[in-house]
Amino acid sequence: MAAFVATLVLVVLIGVSPVATEVVYHASMSTPIMKSGALHIQTPIVRDAELEATLGKIVWLKMECLQPTGSFKIRGIGLLCQELKSAGCTRFVSSSGGNAGYAVAYAGRELSLPVLVVVPSTTSDSTRHKLALMGAEVQVAGDVWDEADVEARKLALEEGAAYIPPFDHPTLWRGHSTMIDEVAESHGKPDMVVVTVGGGGLLCGVLEGMNRSGWSDVPVIAVETAGAESLHAAISAGEAVLLPEITSIATCLGARRVADAALDWTGKHPVRSVVVSDESAVSGCLEFANRHRILVEPACGAGLSLIYEKAECLSNAQRILVVVCGGIGVDVDQLNSWATQMGLRQ
Ligand SMILES: Cc1ncc(COP(=O)(O)O)c(C=O)c1O
Repeated sequence: MAAFVATLVLVVLIGVSPVATEVVYHASMSTPIMKSGALHIQTPIVRDAELEATLGKIVWLKMECLQPTGSFKIRGIGLLCQELKSAGCTRFVSSSGGNAGYAVAYAGRELSLPVLVVVPSTTSDSTRHKLALMGAEVQVAGDVWDEADVEARKLALEEGAAYIPPFDHPTLWRGHSTMIDEVAESHGKPDMVVVTVGGGGLLCGVLEGMNRSGWSDVPVIAVETAGAESLHAAISAGEAVLLPEITSIATCLGARRVADAALDWTGKHPVRSVVVSDESAVSGCLEFANRHRILVEPACGAGLSLIYEKAECLSNAQRILVVVCGGIGVDVDQLNSWATQMGLRQ
């Protein structure tokens, strides 16, 4: 019953999108899929009249949080897993306990292939549980992600297995770029795009899609949180640098080194790097939850905070596309506890 009600909500949400006819449903009515066979769905663009009135601008919220995995990651990871299966791969290996790993687990389940996710000992029980419920085998190696990743890459050398990277792969970028095709087809060209940056896979995909759609003149605001600002540090240094540590609570933006391709884009396209505080990221999540009744991670709230805080960098834009990248690593208690710790509420 719950799945049926959730599906109805999704049908209503997708129903407001002009591209809704492309979405079809499994017989279970719980999982919408693309007619083309892609593992992601076409997400709606939502507008918030109150926000637009306050800002005096049009804001297109591209609701990637409504993907079946709760984040945009399934676009690229779904495509890569499908291509690898066609090439004969029989098993996927990931080292991400975050949204990328969850997307690999989902892709494996949908493609009927086993998935192994190697996580460090610090990965929470609830994350391990979520991955296991999605059908993935979860193995623990090392105390930090780098150690788990080394083990995952080693295990992926076994016959038939493939390592699925979280952000640094051209097929991932191609998959992520489809979100821009959808916007171009249904709404046309914005005059600014807001996107958050971890390892830079989302940024690379969005820029690939924008340039394919003829939006090469549209500026991109690339948002990171302080303590996870690997793109910002790379732009300042003129080359990719390794951050000593990640101190932001937006752990999904916590790649210590940004993909070279993301840094390269900053020399070919107008990209402005903006760093916000963890407090702003959490405020963005709370504001979005109150307005849309949907939870997203601080990795997503960081980008949203710009529109809620009327950031100066938006001042020249009239039609702003914000990628609501989503994330499943959050619940009401966690959000409340951050808000209380940060003095955002009593
Ligand atoms: C919810 C969410 N938003 C944004 C990002 C950043 O994506 P990327 O690492 O491709 O830059 C991630 C990465 O895991 C994420 O999970």
